[in-house]
Amino acid sequence: MDQVKSILKDYYDIDITDVLPQQGGWASLAYKVSNKNQNYFLKVYEKSRASTPKLTALINQYVPILVWLMNNSNLNRKIPTPLITSNGEYKCEDEYGIYLLYDYIEGETIGNRDLTGNQIYQLSQIIAELHSYGDDIPIGADAIKEDFEVPFLQMLRKILQNGRDDLPSDVWGLIHPSMSQLNDLIQTVEEFSQNLKNVDLSMALCHTDLHNWNLMQAGNQLMLIDWEGLKLAPVEADLMFLVDKPYYSEFLSIYQKTHQGFSVNPDAMTFYQGRRRLEDIWEFMEQLLFDEQDEQERDITMSYLREELNEINQ
Ligand SMILES: Nc1ncnc2c1ncn2[C@@H]1O[C@H](COP(=O)(O)OP(=O)(O)OP(=O)(O)O)[C@@H](O)[C@H]1O
Ligand SMILES: [Mg+2]
Repeated sequence: MDQVKSILKDYYDIDITDVLPQQGGWASLAYKVSNKNQNYFLKVYEKSRASTPKLTALINQYVPILVWLMNNSNLNRKIPTPLITSNGEYKCEDEYGIYLLYDYIEGETIGNRDLTGNQIYQLSQIIAELHSYGDDIPIGADAIKEDFEVPFLQMLRKILQNGRDDLPSDVWGLIHPSMSQLNDLIQTVEEFSQNLKNVDLSMALCHTDLHNWNLMQAGNQLMLIDWEGLKLAPVEADLMFLVDKPYYSEFLSIYQKTHQGFSVNPDAMTFYQGRRRLEDIWEFMEQLLFDEQDEQERDITMSYLREELNEINQ
């Protein structure tokens, strides 16, 4: 509480009266903080987590683009409003964490629920609008441009090769039966990564983490939140989350009103689906190998990893 209070005072000149922990995602903590007049949403990336450097490295690159979209596209009110510090910075930090402040959205997260017809329509419009911006925007997007690299692959491969020697025995026990599927997937992703680097694909702004926990209904408006994955990428980086949905054809027909004649690039789709699988697996392995977790946290991560491995075994 005191820590959050002084961050808000020192960097945003906001005098906080209330701090309420929120259910964050697995990579960050979140608080609803309030002063006399209004509520804010504070996102905290703890420096003790292995995933934090990667997740926070590009804040100064993607937040300005988010702000530009808010002011120059019709995504205004459909995306969260980031607040800058008194010094004009997009984030601030202390020895414990890295902090980002947003307006508080009074609304409900979709989460486990299915989208309604109207929400499908609004989501399709949001994605179609987002994908109509590319490297022609007046804010540099080079830093968030897709390079088809898979930086963790080398380390993952090495750890799998060393197997029992590098892994705690419970993790080894979990992974061992899926070894050949894992290696096949690594092989495929590596091949497609190489190939895609050598073709000139058209790219657009993509959210790259489309799921119902990143959608909120606020009044009549569906909002897309959690923009830390914002990329300039082939649109399959977003469509990979939608192709298997029962509403995909509905989505596509609305999307194609803006993007006439659009069709999916199967290579890009295979790459993104494979890379995402491996990324999730690696993320959980990283937690098990490098994070300080208590027994309960470790059990949860183990069960997520088990689920992911089951998926690739099918
Ligand atoms: N501006 C906001 N106002 C109110 N609630 C919010 C706001 N932004 C996010 N939330 C809520 O907090 C939850 C987590 O936020 P968000 O998705 O941005 O981060 P995250 O999932 O923790 O990130 P990561 O996926 O990296 O762990 C959301 O599912 C949503 O319920
Ligand atoms: Mg999220």
